Amino acid sequence: VAVIKLWDFPTRLFHWCLVLAIIGLFVTGKLGGNWMEWHQRLGFFVLGLILFRLVWGVVGSHTARFSQFVRGPRAVIGYLRGLMSGQPQPVAAPGHNPLGALSVVAMLVVVGFQAVSGLFSDDDILLRGPYAAAVSKDLSEWFSKMHEWNSNLIIGLVVLHLAAIAFYVFYKKDNLVKPMITGEKSLPDGQFQTLLPENARPAWVFVVVVLVVAATTYCVVARPFW
Ligand code: HEM
Repeated sequence: VAVIKLWDFPTRLFHWCLVLAIIGLFVTGKLGGNWMEWHQRLGFFVLGLILFRLVWGVVGSHTARFSQFVRGPRAVIGYLRGLMSGQPQPVAAPGHNPLGALSVVAMLVVVGFQAVSGLFSDDDILLRGPYAAAVSKDLSEWFSKMHEWNSNLIIGLVVLHLAAIAFYVFYKKDNLVKPMITGEKSLPDGQFQTLLPENARPAWVFVVVVLVVAATTYCVVARPFW
């Protein structure tokens, strides 16, 4: 049995911040009224989180990188077949499997669209996104409608996500949750063709990325220069 560092600290921090923010967004969105101010703040935060994850997907450690886990349809179908037949194909290296990778991409796209559409939305009562007045009334209404519809897609993805994790925990007896908390996973010998090298990024890379992403997000949402 080998214990490997599976998810780096930034990826885990991103994950649990996103979970809390999304719960907060659903609660404040439903409560409405003065809570919409917090809805907007949390939405800006999520925009920053998604930007962070996009950057981390390029400069982060091995298992966080898109080049490491994003796979074509053939790999996804092959993996799914193996899963169904009870004879999973050998996976090249630890990390997101091809199907999990697809759900990561879907989550980033759908949650990203939610955050961006919020910037252009206007509920005609209390809350107007920072760019709602920069586009036509029609377009802003379209974004508002999309913002509402897309929230159902997020619920769908979250339900699927939790169902997939439950399937791994209870049926495949593979606890995926612990590595997303501690970062570490124990692997039986010989399960993978290669074990990844120790690949954590130095802390300063994380700090620089956070500062750049925070400053960029601030400029996008607070519009200090335009
Ligand atoms: C609003 C709810 C949630 C959202 C939006 C969400 C989103 C995500 C995203 C985007 C990833 C990809 C991580 C990355 O590589 O950046 C991920 C992975 C993961 N999430 Fe969640 N998540 C949610 C709730 C949960 C909960 C409640 C749990 C635990 C019970 C959980 C456990 C995991 C695990 C174990 C992985 C890694 C899967 C793997 O091994 O490939 N998530 N989630």
